[in-house]
Amino acid sequence: MKLKIAVLPGDGIGPEITEQAVKMLKSIADRFDHDFHFEKASVGATAIDQFNNPLPEATLDLCKESDAVLFGAIGHPKYDNDPSAKIRPEQGLLRLRKELGLFANIRPVTTYSKLIDLSPLRRERIEGVDMVIYRELTGGIYFGEKSLNEEDTSATDVCTYSVMEIERITHLAFKAAQKRRKKLTLVDKANVLETSRLWRKTVTAIAKEYSDVQLDFLFVDNAAMQMILNPKQFDVILTENLFGDILSDEASVISGSIGLLASASVGKKNALFEPIHGSYPEATGKGIANPLAAILSAAMLLDHFHLTEEAKAIRDAVEISINLNICTQDINNEYHYSTEKVGDFLDGLISEVDNSFIN
Ligand code: IPM
Ligand code: MN
Repeated sequence: MKLKIAVLPGDGIGPEITEQAVKMLKSIADRFDHDFHFEKASVGATAIDQFNNPLPEATLDLCKESDAVLFGAIGHPKYDNDPSAKIRPEQGLLRLRKELGLFANIRPVTTYSKLIDLSPLRRERIEGVDMVIYRELTGGIYFGEKSLNEEDTSATDVCTYSVMEIERITHLAFKAAQKRRKKLTLVDKANVLETSRLWRKTVTAIAKEYSDVQLDFLFVDNAAMQMILNPKQFDVILTENLFGDILSDEASVISGSIGLLASASVGKKNALFEPIHGSYPEATGKGIANPLAAILSAAMLLDHFHLTEEAKAIRDAVEISINLNICTQDINNEYHYSTEKVGDFLDGLISEVDNSFIN
């Protein structure tokens, strides 16, 4: 298969982890005889430094004309500590999601048997967890009107959802549930928010088209608690933008590290693949960032193009590296492998070469 892949490493650890993901895709292309073409572009704080724009037009154009986007991470502390900054790195990612129409963000959460006892959560609670979060990505409070009054004494963020925005992701979530354990949980705050009530009404109506799927509802505060108390109850979680952002970071504790959670953001035409974690500025350049979330995002990219065997080759390699403790220190303080060493080990497995150099 021929694919043009835009690579947007972004900020902080973004370039280091993306490099490993690209390495995997190159090995996959070699082994399975595909033609993957990679082109890099600038985004985020890096793009602000260079072009005074977190999403330069050339980057946007490249993404639009590519088959897929591989995204690293975004964000820089100098903006986090400056609330009055008008141009911010995150605007680059948000605009990219909007411009590409990436309305559904898919975040799978599973466990690895080797890591279960490293979790702060008890084995019996998390063993066997297998869920996927469908997070709406181009609406809600993230994209509503924002304002700050002149005296800086009052600020507003508006949360809006249209039926159309709710419907399109709901269909995807139901279809995913049909292929899984046939359970869909809508997470909202319908006891308080009007937008949440619209979500409930819309999702309930659509449920009639998917009668084989069991639909239930949870308020987001309760869902946050259930995620820790009994995460096995979840199959597909469907939720709005902000709730999905928060719940997926929480869910990463189940897997063992936020450095393991991958995501796919899809729309009608384009697709983008990125780890759910941020730019981890403290780790930049130290070689300690976990490349697995980026690598597993590359596996989701392959799945998106129905390259199932190829995606499996990556996931199997990840599983092997975890089983052999070839991991970065976020997984366990005793592990000392660098970002690049983990990537090299996986690369060796994928290209089926001798890996004995690793120890
Ligand atoms: C994520 C990130 C982004 C979000 C930030 C960087 C804008 O936290 O992808 O989860 O909030 O969507
Ligand atoms: Mn997030």
